[in-house]
Amino acid sequence: MKNLGIATSIAAAHKDMPGGLLPALHGIQDALGHVPPDAVPVIAEQFNLSRAEVHGVVSYYHHFRSAPAGRLLVQVCRAEACKAMGADALLAHAEQRLGCGVHGTSADGRYSLEPVFCLGLCASSPAIAVNDEVHARITPALFDDIVEEARQ
Ligand code: FES
Repeated sequence: MKNLGIATSIAAAHKDMPGGLLPALHGIQDALGHVPPDAVPVIAEQFNLSRAEVHGVVSYYHHFRSAPAGRLLVQVCRAEACKAMGADALLAHAEQRLGCGVHGTSADGRYSLEPVFCLGLCASSPAIAVNDEVHARITPALFDDIVEEARQ
């Protein structure tokens, strides 16, 4: 209920802005950690759109979540420099270690895994971020150490 009030006020603040839907969705996700499915009708009403249209935008962009993220948000860079330094293998390791696929959350709610496209550490790739803290020159063993330390 409280979340709906927050979503409604954020949507209302953006409804008259050209192209305001995306900033509203970003604002809602920033405030609530995700875009709750039950907020879609109130967002649609504010923007005079159908629920399907709003749902379509939310589901089109992987950035938007319909459910809360895990307690640790792990992002693995998949941009050029990191790919050249083994980011694909690192991502496969991350999926196995965290127990969830890309854009997924582990069953215990501990981890969410997302791709990211450049963390500004290209010269020290491959790079990851764990709850927005960046780490460079990541090996699978270092990945495990960082995740273990961040859990505590
Ligand atoms: Fe990965 Fe820039 S390409 S940090």
